[in-house]
Amino acid sequence: VVRRLAAPDIRARKGGEPLVCLTAYDAPTAEILDAHCDVLLVGDSVGMVVHGLPNTVGVTLDMMILHGKAVMRGSKRAMVVIDMPFGTYEGSRELAYQNCARVMQETGAQGVKVESGPTIAETIAYLVQRGIPVMGHVGLRPQAVLTEGGFKAKGKTDDERLRVMSEAEATADAGAFAVVIEGVAEGLAREITEAIDKPTIGIGASAACDGQILVTHDMLGLFDWTPKFVRRYADMRGEIDRAVAGYAADVKTRRFPAEVETYFSKKPVAQ
Ligand code: KIV
Ligand code: NA
Repeated sequence: VVRRLAAPDIRARKGGEPLVCLTAYDAPTAEILDAHCDVLLVGDSVGMVVHGLPNTVGVTLDMMILHGKAVMRGSKRAMVVIDMPFGTYEGSRELAYQNCARVMQETGAQGVKVESGPTIAETIAYLVQRGIPVMGHVGLRPQAVLTEGGFKAKGKTDDERLRVMSEAEATADAGAFAVVIEGVAEGLAREITEAIDKPTIGIGASAACDGQILVTHDMLGLFDWTPKFVRRYADMRGEIDRAVAGYAADVKTRRFPAEVETYFSKKPVAQ
């Protein structure tokens, strides 16, 4: 039996071999990623990359649970972390506990992630004290897109740098087992990584972090456009386009299906 990685394993990787993390939303993809990743994050980015929403604000707890169950079924070794979506944890620590406990119970995942705004440390401590492993997320916080007015990199002013640093410290001190840092300059990512005793996992946050995460659909090249921080390791959009064009041509010209792809009724036995 393969033992799954869990929060203490990830926590122990601080300053060691960089943590390999990707997002996953479905069982077959999770099965492929599982062999290579320490953490599979069921990100609320699912709303944008799978469901076609304009941002993550419309993602619901039911969506996260559905995709979380699929990723758990497809994987067996990586730690599975489920994003808590907008509106399910910010209101109060009791609300957060109820929703996080439901996610943990219904999916069987090893932890949850919350975007760590200025008021979240108390909630993180409350959750961790009650047995819920929590990953934090500082810097660019996509769930704050409507108050911030767009997806903008953080840490360009001294004020902003201090704020992101204090949010990261509060998140780590509250007991988070790791902290995602999104969309910050190298200097700030390095300072945070040196200041806190938990692994930092960067996305658009330089090689100074203790690990990296990308949205799988971005690194596989499923979209025309990707931000500067994404490296495309494949051109899946081109691959799918070529495959479907080939299929369409074969159907129209009756080259598909061929005899080997066809069922025939048994020939009557000769007398
Ligand atoms: O939702 C998501 O995919 C994320 C990661 C990219 C960190 O939060
Ligand atoms: Na997210």
